[in-house]
Amino acid sequence: MKKIDRITEKEREYLDEVLKGEFSASKTYTMVTRMEQAFASKFGKKYGVAMVNGTATLHMALEAAGVEPGDEVICPPLTMSSTAISILMTNAVPVFADVDLDTFLITATEIEKKISAKTKAIITVSTYGLSPQMYEIMQLAKKHNLVVIEDNAECYGAYQDGKIVGSYGDMASYSFQSSKHITCGEGGIVITDDGDLADKLRRYSGLGYAGVSSRKGRITKDDIQSPNYERHVILGWNYRMSDLCAAVIMGQLERMEEFVKMRQLCALYYDDAIKGSEILKAQQIPTGNTNSYWTYAMKLDTDKVNWYEFRKKYVEMGGDGYYAAWKLAYQEPMFRNKAFLNREKIGIYDAYDFRSVCCPNAERLQRSIIQLKTNYYDEAEVETQAQILKKTVEYYEGKRG
Ligand SMILES: Cc1ncc(COP(=O)(O)O)c(C=O)c1O
Repeated sequence: MKKIDRITEKEREYLDEVLKGEFSASKTYTMVTRMEQAFASKFGKKYGVAMVNGTATLHMALEAAGVEPGDEVICPPLTMSSTAISILMTNAVPVFADVDLDTFLITATEIEKKISAKTKAIITVSTYGLSPQMYEIMQLAKKHNLVVIEDNAECYGAYQDGKIVGSYGDMASYSFQSSKHITCGEGGIVITDDGDLADKLRRYSGLGYAGVSSRKGRITKDDIQSPNYERHVILGWNYRMSDLCAAVIMGQLERMEEFVKMRQLCALYYDDAIKGSEILKAQQIPTGNTNSYWTYAMKLDTDKVNWYEFRKKYVEMGGDGYYAAWKLAYQEPMFRNKAFLNREKIGIYDAYDFRSVCCPNAERLQRSIIQLKTNYYDEAEVETQAQILKKTVEYYEGKRG
């Protein structure tokens, strides 16, 4: 039975290196730079800009893309709401495109229906660890001159048509929050091949400093000590990652494939547990794709038993419990009520009523999705959970096959 550690000596060694530097100004940020380069090259990209979390990364990616107040950005509603919230952070408008009932993902067809003269960008989301069909989406984006940002907070080391997911869009955004494949508690990164976008990502996430660039995260001492030094050339946020977080990610990154394999192993157990089931259908993986399984998502598609009853029975039988899908972004009170920290008063949102948005597939799925944990680090634990799942299914369907 496979058993791995979430944190090992590797992460501790990198951390120790940082601590030995005692945060002295001349030594800081070397670990962040190293991590950025290691991360970007793992995904075959030239640049990586690390930030404090995977919401900040989306916000900065949109700013770097040149999204302006009043522009529209298309995204799916079935996602952790940061995707849509980041759009509001730029005073732009999220426009929700429906998802596919089987893959649970946004599609080029649904995106196309939502393109208007105001559309500037698309955020695709690799929901639950599986990427939408990027080739078609990139073709569509090219036709309409739209920037594509892959929100891969939940997707590490998955492949589509032989290419690693994260290498399709103009930029790809990642989160290192504690539930993700690799983690430092909180953190994120944007990767890109475009030097101009990378310079912007760095500057906008680093207080608009003049002296920073795609590969340079901090200004030199000689520069900043001059009384004539002008630091801020443009509005910027302070979203910089700390060296401590970067050190942990350095270690985690070396083990990324191991973590992905562990989650994929969990999925094999769950696949087996629901094999032949009439009531449970796993997120469908289109040919040519691999799923990195941030969670194992399936829909409970039956009149026999509802979501709550099934969960109650699963827990009664010893199951760990499972998560529902998040509320769709537009169903959240902040969208319904346009509680946008006074941005609702600047006129941009007057023409939009989020209460009348309707993505029927996403709404149906939101009520029926079951997300099972895949962040087990001990195969024996997931084996037990899968057996319990199998018994729960048999309780409702009898023995199959
Ligand atoms: C799809 C998606 N986008 C964005 C985020 C935001 O990342 P963070 O929590 O690091 O801000 C998350 C997860 O937390 C996510 O799952």
